[in-house]
Amino acid sequence: MGKEYDIVAKFYDPLLYFFMKPVRKAVLNELLTYKDKAILDLCCGTGNQLKLLARHRFTNLHCLDLSASILKIAKKSDYPIHVYNEDAIKTNFDNESFDITIISFALHEKDRITQENFIKETHRLLKNDGLLLVVDFAFDELTTIFSKIGIIFVERLAGGEHYTYFKNYIQNNGLSSLIKQDKFKLTKENRKLFKGITISLYQKV
Ligand SMILES: C[S@@+](CC[C@H](N)C(=O)[O-])C[C@H]1O[C@@H](n2cnc3c(N)ncnc32)[C@H](O)[C@@H]1O
Repeated sequence: MGKEYDIVAKFYDPLLYFFMKPVRKAVLNELLTYKDKAILDLCCGTGNQLKLLARHRFTNLHCLDLSASILKIAKKSDYPIHVYNEDAIKTNFDNESFDITIISFALHEKDRITQENFIKETHRLLKNDGLLLVVDFAFDELTTIFSKIGIIFVERLAGGEHYTYFKNYIQNNGLSSLIKQDKFKLTKENRKLFKGITISLYQKV
């Protein structure tokens, strides 16, 4: 478990730099008014998003991932970010520990049960009225064909199970079928990369 990112860990940020930069910036802008809130990034990878928040003086930052290799990179900084090697399906935090949770590019590459468990866990971890920010692919009438082709190309390169789960995610209408309206209310949506990536902000109901 948690080994699939061992090889790409070192190259993840440089490889995806131009693709990720506008997305990371947009997430920062969404959260600028919450600098002192307790924020948890689940499946954080290299911690790149929280490092950007830390540079903008966010003070209560936490992130977790299953891959020890990728977390070595997340830990490589002088920023005051708390880093945990944990499974996002079942974490060791108490109920309602966080004001904001982030799940970025982690849902589309998982089977349906795991996706649902990630969402359930984040609901448990959020305080009442807390915010869930999800970054992931969106394929709908707004998404440009240019974006669809680019994303499919990248996901095909990842191959295997990863590509199968991506296709299922798209066929199941991505986030809209996954996030239950009695648990979370969509409050804002922003699109990036020719409208192929959604930055969706939900409030815990
Ligand atoms: C595509 S990367 C996204 C990383 C980061 N969130 C980003 O936006 O760049 C997916 C990450 O999810 C992590 N991951 C996969 N399954 C996990 C699980 N059950 N619990 C915690 N992390 C997991 C992987 O190790 C990997 O770092």
